[in-house]
Amino acid sequence: MPIKSLIRTIPHYPKQGIQFRDITTLLKDPIGFRMVVDALAHHYAHQKIDKIAGIEARGFIIGAALAYKLGVGFVPIRKSGKLPAETVGHDYALEYGADRVEIHTDAIAHGEQVLLVDDLIATGGTAEAAAALIQKLGGVVMGCTFVIDLPDLGGSKRLVENGLKPFSLCEFE
Ligand code: PRP
Ligand code: ADE
Repeated sequence: MPIKSLIRTIPHYPKQGIQFRDITTLLKDPIGFRMVVDALAHHYAHQKIDKIAGIEARGFIIGAALAYKLGVGFVPIRKSGKLPAETVGHDYALEYGADRVEIHTDAIAHGEQVLLVDDLIATGGTAEAAAALIQKLGGVVMGCTFVIDLPDLGGSKRLVENGLKPFSLCEFE
């Protein structure tokens, strides 16, 4: 069963005109979830990774499982006001709105190779903001990975242009 076929589309959520790509149907399938984590682990098996940074909220699910599989640490990149210790933050625009992401200042050490993980890339605003946080702390974003790419929204192209090396398992128009 291909990964893409386990992803559900919800029309007009959370706003009119948005085709929401819902990974909960993929995650609840034990074979599907394992296929995702195994495919990403295989892709990054021979690359140097010190840490995985997962983006709230769905990036936590994929990122934590991948960190476990690769045997590296996991750090959360969260929406504004959620992290308890000292943070750095970055504001960004979404396909449907605006937001801010934050990371603990001690999450990443200078020079660490960090793989950024989220469920989906659309405009790329979230991933770019997350990458900016890692770079502010002196980390190196060695790649950005997603289950889903929405190429029509231009995010993966933006990441390529900025040297952020996106890799996704499937695409939706
Ligand atoms: C979704 C998705 C990515 C982001 C991608 O998160 O999980 O994080 O949008 O969009 P972009 O490439 O245009 O920035 P959402 O903002 O819905 O937040 P949530 O995961 O907390 O629900
Ligand atoms: N984040 C931004 N655009 C999205 C979409 N179309 N489906 C799911 N998550 C998203």
